[in-house]
Amino acid sequence: MTPIAGILLSLGLFLFSVAQTNAKVCTLQPLGAGLDDTDQVEAAISECGQYGQVIFGAGDYNITRKMTWNLVSSQVDLYGYLSFIPDYQYWLNYNSTYRVVFIQDQASWFVVTGNDFIIDAHGQGGIKGNGQPWWSYYATGAQPRLDGDGRPIAFTLSHVQRGVVNNFHIDSPPFWCNTVADSVDVVYDGMVCNATNTDTTYAGQNIVPNTDGIDTYRSDSVSLLNWDVTCGDDCLAIKGNTTNLYVQNVICRGGNGIAFGSLGQYVDLPDNVENVVMENLQLLRLPTNIQPNMGSGVYFKSWTATVNGTPPTGGGGGTGYVKDVVARNVYVDRVNVPMHLYQTNGGYANDTPSYFQFSNLSFYNWTGTSLANKLADIECSPNAPCPNMVFGDFDVTPPAGTTPSYVCVNVVSETGLPGPCNATGRA
Ligand SMILES: *[C@@H]1O[C@H](CO)[C@@H](O)[C@H](O)[C@H]1NC(C)=O
Ligand SMILES: *[C@@H]1O[C@H](CO)[C@@H](O)[C@H](O)[C@H]1NC(C)=O
Ligand SMILES: *[C@@H]1O[C@H](CO)[C@@H](O)[C@H](O)[C@H]1NC(C)=O
Ligand SMILES: *[C@@H]1O[C@H](CO)[C@@H](O)[C@H](O)[C@H]1NC(C)=O
Ligand SMILES: *[C@@H]1O[C@H](CO)[C@@H](O)[C@H](O)[C@H]1NC(C)=O
Ligand SMILES: *[C@@H]1O[C@H](CO)[C@@H](O)[C@H](O)[C@H]1NC(C)=O
Ligand SMILES: *[C@@H]1O[C@H](CO)[C@@H](O)[C@H](O)[C@H]1NC(C)=O
Repeated sequence: MTPIAGILLSLGLFLFSVAQTNAKVCTLQPLGAGLDDTDQVEAAISECGQYGQVIFGAGDYNITRKMTWNLVSSQVDLYGYLSFIPDYQYWLNYNSTYRVVFIQDQASWFVVTGNDFIIDAHGQGGIKGNGQPWWSYYATGAQPRLDGDGRPIAFTLSHVQRGVVNNFHIDSPPFWCNTVADSVDVVYDGMVCNATNTDTTYAGQNIVPNTDGIDTYRSDSVSLLNWDVTCGDDCLAIKGNTTNLYVQNVICRGGNGIAFGSLGQYVDLPDNVENVVMENLQLLRLPTNIQPNMGSGVYFKSWTATVNGTPPTGGGGGTGYVKDVVARNVYVDRVNVPMHLYQTNGGYANDTPSYFQFSNLSFYNWTGTSLANKLADIECSPNAPCPNMVFGDFDVTPPAGTTPSYVCVNVVSETGLPGPCNATGRA
């Protein structure tokens, strides 16, 4: 079955089961300025979020504390925004958030779990993360930014089976925009994430690190369709035990690019990533005063085999693999390194080289421009040389007057690059 046929089939099954059981309908409107909507939102979800429908009218719903929706055979129509109060000192208190996303002990203020549901924001609603005060606060250096420090993921899907999220907008996430973890058969169709600093004090700086569009973790059969992500970090971060991921029509504006990783951070927990198809990707550099970074098109990163401290901030020594990846129809606009692979994330020069295995990665029909002449930089570990690096129509344009270079280190076999690929030009 093609990925699209699989998606359509599963969508059809959802719609059927929701329509069959659409008994109770709850409708709500925002209470208005100065009032707290959290109680009425929780009450509506509790009343109609299982075998029913919840309809949010337009406007902002003031959410003042962490919230879980357990949706079963239901539909949520979100014509307004869940607006999370910008009180970062409150949210940073350990008990103000959940810790359902295991990797790096990340915090969540809003968790959706359950099965057979649709959340449709109709292009008119979603989440306001009100991240600007967070970004400006961290930019002062008052507190270091650390993984697991309590900055909340804006929208977490955890332990979901057969869930759909449609036409949803997440504005100003303080931290990661989305995470899907421990889930299976999830479709996101139409997602806009926008982490744009508007504090002129920090113009030209990336003060929105960690605003990843999504991190996928321990999840099977997830589809990401029609995404538009403006961020200062990984547009998509494909983390451990993501399998059968399908990605189509994604625009990444600024940030690091599309990441596989980081992987191998946990010494006792293999990260196995398999069967990822991504097509129609655009990686677009933003004006420097808004977001200075546009790292890669697609890149891959594993930790070394040496354990340097412990997660969430340290780690390494983890094993696993990434195999059977296709990235096709990719347009890059002034990226630093269009395709990049390295196995030294978080490591030091004398570490034992990684045993994490990358194999069978394919890149077809790439166009656009790179800011440097190194168009592909594949630096595999001597302990896990990479077989089957496949390129076709990889036609990214280097800066005028330069000759393209391709770096292959510990690559067992490479085909299709338009020039020789070797260790020359590694640095
Ligand atoms: C949200 O609710 C809190 C608690 O009632 C209130 O102090 C705050 O002003 C409200 N925020 C907005 C934007 O209405
Ligand atoms: C968090 O909640 C636990 C359990 O109720 C409690 O023991 C702990 O003191 C709380 N921590 C903070 C920082 O409030
Ligand atoms: C993101 O937000 C910024 C600031 O509000 C805005 O200028 C920009 O147009 C938005 N980007 C997208 C793609 O909506
Ligand atoms: C990934 O799956 C493998 C095989 O089921 C398991 O051994 C490993 O612990 C999983 N890793 C993570 C990060 O959950
Ligand atoms: C490589 O990956 C592609 C795409 O997932 C898959 O169709 C193919 O069977 C894989 N080839 C090998 C040799 O594993
Ligand atoms: C190559 O990718 C571009 C988008 O970057 C797309 O417009 C074009 O149709 C693709 N070509 C083929 C042959 O698929
Ligand atoms: C190594 O690659 C560079 C460009 O990437 C090329 O100029 C050089 O000739 C290659 N060397 C060999 C021995 O193929």
